[in-house]
Amino acid sequence: MALGSSHIITVGNEKGGSGKSTTALHLAVYLLHQGYRVATIDVDSRQQTLTRYVRNRRTTVETTGHQVPMPKHVHLPTAWGDSIRENQRAELDIFSKALDSLRGETDFIVIDTPGFDGNLARLAHGFADTLVTPINDSMIDLDVLAKVDPVSGEPIETSPYSRNVQRARSERLTRDGKAIDWVLVRNRISNLGSRNASQVQNTVDRLAERLGCRVADGIAERVIFRSLFPIGMTVFDPLDAGLFGTAPSMSHVNARQEYRSLVASLSLPASATPAAARAA
Ligand SMILES: Nc1ncnc2c1ncn2[C@@H]1O[C@H](COP(=O)(O)OP(=O)(O)OP(=O)(O)O)[C@@H](O)[C@H]1O
Ligand SMILES: [Mg+2]
Repeated sequence: MALGSSHIITVGNEKGGSGKSTTALHLAVYLLHQGYRVATIDVDSRQQTLTRYVRNRRTTVETTGHQVPMPKHVHLPTAWGDSIRENQRAELDIFSKALDSLRGETDFIVIDTPGFDGNLARLAHGFADTLVTPINDSMIDLDVLAKVDPVSGEPIETSPYSRNVQRARSERLTRDGKAIDWVLVRNRISNLGSRNASQVQNTVDRLAERLGCRVADGIAERVIFRSLFPIGMTVFDPLDAGLFGTAPSMSHVNARQEYRSLVASLSLPASATPAAARAA
C-alpha cells in the first residue's frame, strides 16, 4: 500500500448508537468548510448510515439548489464468501485500493465503522492516524472500554474493544513507526448536570489515563441532531432556513460551538494544506 500524506481519522466504538456516524460526517464537513479535500469511507455495510447521510445531503442540494461542500464518498462492502481467509484477503484488497486512490487526492480521510468487531473495522482502526471514540454519557456505555468498579468508579479490567485498539496501536507502531492518537469524546451529555454526568466524567478521565488516550471536549444532548440526518446536513452548514426548512436556533449555534471545540482538541495536523492556501 503506497504511503501518502492524507491524515486518516477513524471513528470507532463497538457500542452501537454512540454517535459514530454523526461524528464522522460532522468532522468531514467541518474540514470541507475549512477548504480541505476530504473523503469519507463507510465500512458499516449493515447500516450504511454514513452512506445514506451523504446521499441525503446530495438530495438536499439537488432539491433546494443550495450549494454545500461534498466529501468524496466510498462505501466498502463486507465480503460474504464461504472462506474467512478469502473474505479477509478480499477486504484487505478493496480497503488498500480505496486508500491508495484517495491518498493522492485528499488531505483527510474520515472512516465510519460499525458498532461491532469485524475485519474491515479492524483495518480501519489499524490505519488510523487519529481514532475518535464517541461514548454515550452513561456508565453502561463505558463498559465497552473497561469493567468499572461500581462503587469506586475505578477501571478494573480492559474490555475486548480496548484490547483491539491496543493491538492496532502496537501493530501500527511496528509496521510504520507511527502512533495512533486515540481520543475519547463524551456524547449526548445531559444538560441537567446530574450526578451520573460527573461520575461518567471522572471515570472517563481515569480510563483515559489507564488506556493511554486523550479526552476531548464533549457534545451535549440536543434534539437538533434528529433533524440533521434526513436532510444530510451538519451544524457546520450555513444557518439557512432554505436548507434546514426552519429558522436557525440557539441550539444549532451552541452545537456548532461544541463541535468546533471538539475538532480543536483533536489537534489535527495543520500541515495538510487547505485548497485556499494551495491556490495562493
Ligand atoms: N449529541 C447528540 N444529541 C442528540 N442526539 C444525538 C447526538 N449525537 C447523536 N445523536 C443521535 O443518536 C443516534 C445514534 O447516532 P449515530 O447513528 O451517529 O450512532 P452510531 O454510533 O453511528 O450508531 P451505530 O453503532 O448503530 O452505527 C442518532 O439518532 C443520532 O441522531
Ligand atoms: Mg453508525
